[in-house]
Amino acid sequence: MPTEAELRGFLDQAVLAAKLAGALQKERLWSDFAVSYKGEVDLVTEVDRGCEELIVASLKGAFPEHGVLAEESSYQSGSLPFKWIVDPLDGTTNFAHGFPWFCVSIALEHEGEVVLGVIYHCMMDELFTALKGGGAFLNGNRIQVSTRQPLRRSLLATGFPYDRTRDNENNFDNFVNFQLAARAVRRAGAAALDLAYLAAGRLDGYWECKLKPWDVAAGSLLVAEAGGSLTNHAGLPYSVYDHRILASNGAIHREMLEVLNRAEQG
Ligand code: IPD
Ligand code: CA
Ligand code: CA
Repeated sequence: MPTEAELRGFLDQAVLAAKLAGALQKERLWSDFAVSYKGEVDLVTEVDRGCEELIVASLKGAFPEHGVLAEESSYQSGSLPFKWIVDPLDGTTNFAHGFPWFCVSIALEHEGEVVLGVIYHCMMDELFTALKGGGAFLNGNRIQVSTRQPLRRSLLATGFPYDRTRDNENNFDNFVNFQLAARAVRRAGAAALDLAYLAAGRLDGYWECKLKPWDVAAGSLLVAEAGGSLTNHAGLPYSVYDHRILASNGAIHREMLEVLNRAEQG
């Protein structure tokens, strides 16, 4: 495990990189930029790629011995002890439509364990940070998950996979079940921000499926460090490489698992 001083040095660099990318996002939103398709509905913009270049150059420049797993290059650097996991722009569909809800997500994994997470929401100038064992923070102030319960009084968030028209595992049944069981369910379009908002007590629960490590690595550490609970949909301990995530304030976790189990197993 790295020392606290080492971790703080890594965090400073990650914050610098996230703010650089956030500044580019803010500058380019509502401007003309090239958009292309990765899949039928899955977009990527030149700003996603520009942000990724800025972040990777900043991190690799400071820590050339570290590996990087970044969404747009899917750059894999073998089995180095430290690996940065980067979503340069989470919420690309929103960004491409000029809907100002997106963020930068950067995490650092050490020997398979996420030890640092940074999420930067440039439009609100909100910086969420967490170090393993060191708590979760929003603009330097400690944050905690909510204590709200039961489920029928809770505000939840979720999202839907890009292949939802082709695969039956599209989260639609769960969405209906939670709409009936909870106070409300939001689908804002940026998984990392959903997790950051859960950590800050602005949401009480979140579930999704078919996410990638870069969507959830920083956010899941934020939730854990803010006192929340994380499992897969079967209630087993969660890893960022899992297929299905359930994150909550802890108080409604069991109720959320029961709802998920009505429509699916595992
Ligand atoms: C997406 C967003 C969205 C989630 C998708 C993700 P992207 O990431 O986090 O909320 O529902 O499944 O892929 O493509 O905008 O980085
Ligand atoms: Ca993403
Ligand atoms: Ca992305």
